[in-house]
Amino acid sequence: MASYDVIVIGSGPGGYVSAIRCAQLGLKTACVEGRDTLGGTCLNVGCIPSKALLHASHQLHEAQHNFSKMGLIAEDPKVDWAKMQGYKTDVIDGNTKGIEFLFKKNKIDWLKGWGSIPAAGQVKVGDDIHQAKHIIIASGSEPSSLPGIAIDEKIVVTSTGALELNKIPSKLVVIGAGVIGLELGSVYARLGAEVEVIEFLDEITPGMDGEIQKTFLRILKKQGLMFTMGAAVQSVAVKKGKATVSYVKRKKGSQHEVEADVVLVATGRRPYVDGLGLDALGVTLTERSQIQTDAHYATSVPGIYAIGDAISGPMLAHKAEDEGMAVAEILAGQAGHVNYDVIPGVIYTHPEVATVGKTEEQLKEAGRAYKAGKFSFMGNGRAKANFAADGFVKILADAQTDRILGAHIIGPMAGDLIHEICVAMEFGAAAEDLARTCHAHPTYSEAVREAALACGDGAIHS
Ligand code: NAI
Repeated sequence: MASYDVIVIGSGPGGYVSAIRCAQLGLKTACVEGRDTLGGTCLNVGCIPSKALLHASHQLHEAQHNFSKMGLIAEDPKVDWAKMQGYKTDVIDGNTKGIEFLFKKNKIDWLKGWGSIPAAGQVKVGDDIHQAKHIIIASGSEPSSLPGIAIDEKIVVTSTGALELNKIPSKLVVIGAGVIGLELGSVYARLGAEVEVIEFLDEITPGMDGEIQKTFLRILKKQGLMFTMGAAVQSVAVKKGKATVSYVKRKKGSQHEVEADVVLVATGRRPYVDGLGLDALGVTLTERSQIQTDAHYATSVPGIYAIGDAISGPMLAHKAEDEGMAVAEILAGQAGHVNYDVIPGVIYTHPEVATVGKTEEQLKEAGRAYKAGKFSFMGNGRAKANFAADGFVKILADAQTDRILGAHIIGPMAGDLIHEICVAMEFGAAAEDLARTCHAHPTYSEAVREAALACGDGAIHS
């Protein structure tokens, strides 16, 4: 039993970053985590392991499809699935141990166990009750399945089970063409599975820029993924080790079934707040079961704050991290702040998809006069040399002021390229500011500059 300035509940990217910043700002800090390792969903069963599998499977794809074009001979590359799983585990271990090291370095106590809040100012872990001036809830989210579907994490899996399948399935059905479905669908398609994605809507990645959605769908189809669009999955039945997925085509109302070895349910996530005791405390939730907070991350109960997937906004690790730093600064008497207009979103398929700010659809709906500068990677020498010329950069800027309002990239390293546009947006830059910035040749980032040039007098290489 001990007394702290701050106890953070949850050690995912929101929680651990918040704890580190609290400690750096001189607050005596502890972090509660019930898993055996720190890092939450992201490091243990989310962002990091999925990136390991995406990387490994991409290397296989390169060996199979592009090596011979470059005069490299790597005949018949094969997959050692157990070894690939081992590589993934090593990547997880390296990252989670890294957080443990950072906790020690910053003198943050790891309170091992699942925490609850018996009263404001108290956190219970096991039989111990710890005192805290401030409590930050960073308890994250969990997969939300559909009614009529029982998850067993073997045949009918969420992203967690999909990361550690016993073997590569012959046929994988993915329910939901969102970020998780397309990233993990890509992994198994590259590893040789037949992958069919069933999506409720008529387009993939809901909410993204329409032109990106169309190009992305075309590229994924070219890579061999199959799509059944406008189809509502109703149930999944498992018999003798095989799954049957039943769905209705929304327009025609026709019933269909498809068999699969594995079904990945990727239909969204919901806040994970079970067992915290929020009801008894009187912490107000939104109608979507998120913890309601004000602009300073304060909940309805004084002394209790919340950040990350457990509150409203995009469920992204980096959004949670930024909120974690902001709330720490607020508790230390500084002016913590997150600019929600400049939060990038990235899908780590190949090619990557990255987006920030407004889409064309949003600007049209708002009746805002804008211009779009677009540049295809076909005009980028580096992309052509690397067989990565499929895709484009699109920058949207205000028609009068030229201020950048949004950017959408599908192409090589899109997840890295987006950040120069994020920085520009933070500084209120015009497209011309990017266009007049010298970009090294030959780099992918020249495509960003060319899109900025296309907002003005025109791109050079198109
Ligand atoms: P999502 O919300 O991105 O996509 C879910 C999809 O399932 C939607 O397209 C929806 O229309 C569809 N769907 C819902 N019910 C359906 C039904 N009955 N039949 C067919 N389709 C149906 O959710 P996802 O991919 O599960 O991701 C969850 C969260 O995790 C998201 O907030 C995402 O941003 C985050 N995440 C982010 C990653 C990244 O930043 N790279 C990686 C993985 C997850």
